[in-house]
Amino acid sequence: MLREAMEAKFVGESEGLTFWLARPQDYEEVMAISQDIYQGNDYLPHRYHIWMTERDRVAIIGRRNGKLVALDSALVVDGGQTVVLEGLRVCPSERGQGVAGVIQRVTDSYIKQVYPSVTTKRLTRRDNPGPEKLSKFTFLACRAILSLCGEAESFKDFVSGLKSKLERTEKSNGPNNNQKLFVLKDSHQLRALLLDPDLSLRLQLPGGAIIQDWQPLKPMESNLEILERRNLTWLVDSFNEKPIFMSFHTPPYPVPFSGGSLRVNIDMFGTDVSTARKALIAHLEQVLEEIHGTVVVHIYMPKTFWEDMRQFCEGDEGVKQYNDYGEQLFLEKEML
Ligand SMILES: CC(C)(COP(=O)(O)OP(=O)(O)OC[C@H]1O[C@@H](n2cnc3c(N)ncnc32)[C@H](O)[C@@H]1OP(=O)(O)O)[C@@H](O)C(=O)NCCC(=O)NCCS
Repeated sequence: MLREAMEAKFVGESEGLTFWLARPQDYEEVMAISQDIYQGNDYLPHRYHIWMTERDRVAIIGRRNGKLVALDSALVVDGGQTVVLEGLRVCPSERGQGVAGVIQRVTDSYIKQVYPSVTTKRLTRRDNPGPEKLSKFTFLACRAILSLCGEAESFKDFVSGLKSKLERTEKSNGPNNNQKLFVLKDSHQLRALLLDPDLSLRLQLPGGAIIQDWQPLKPMESNLEILERRNLTWLVDSFNEKPIFMSFHTPPYPVPFSGGSLRVNIDMFGTDVSTARKALIAHLEQVLEEIHGTVVVHIYMPKTFWEDMRQFCEGDEGVKQYNDYGEQLFLEKEML
């Protein structure tokens, strides 16, 4: 029985490569092709084993002459209608020869076989592949990314600095008494928030979706369980009992950056940047006790917030912006 469980499941063959469902014991080989991915911000070293048992997740590896050369993964979401592509990678020596296309086609056909209800494929990516490649997709949205980096001890001073800046702005502009940023306490509140039919319009959700750490999910009942699995900390601001701002952070997780760091992801939705400033402080305060060593914080937000947020975060000795302006593209394609 155990022996059987260890055997790889063959899923197909194409262009001289064989494809298999990824197994826990393929971890080291997957890591070997993952050096330097996303400038050390790769989530896969941390998530690989979680993916191995995650419901409705497919992870496929490609081998050439037995050697692991590519990985692709997909999560079936939106009540079985959509598949979200994640984790795509090809070993450096095989890049630029179409392998990423081959493994994606194998993954698509496997998904269609196992989940015939899937009609749409969605993905987010950082780099803009240019108009020719983009034309193969429906462009849904583009968000801005602000990235910060510092030692954990520096974040206390950084947060105090942000608070003083906030007080100064409030003194000159007058406090905004309409703002009541609060932490969502339970799944009941989360359900009420996400299933509010006006949510997408009020928060200008990108492509009508919530993008959680690069994973787009429609705000619908069947995705609640997926979001709950992620242990997010949610902040909401509402006006007349209606949400006008929403953000959440993913619990800090280890990434290879700078010899080993913690990564904190904050995703923000709404139209009012003054709430976003407060939310940033609140999220960082919540993680202060948990962080140690080098910490990278990525804040994903509407493009209109970016310059304001960059200025808000600038000028600290210990916590500094790293990377220029970055974008998160959200794309969709029909599964033919
Ligand atoms: C990005 C990466 C997977 C591309 O692999 P590759 O085999 O060199 O890709 P190619 O340039 O030969 O392109 C092959 C196909 O993959 C597609 N592709 C390339 N990068 C892609 C991406 N980031 N997301 C989705 N599809 C991608 C191309 O559009 C092309 O499609 P086509 O066959 O339909 O024309 C590879 O460079 C890599 O592993 N990089 C590091 C990890 C990474 O950045 N992954 C991106 C995840 S968003």
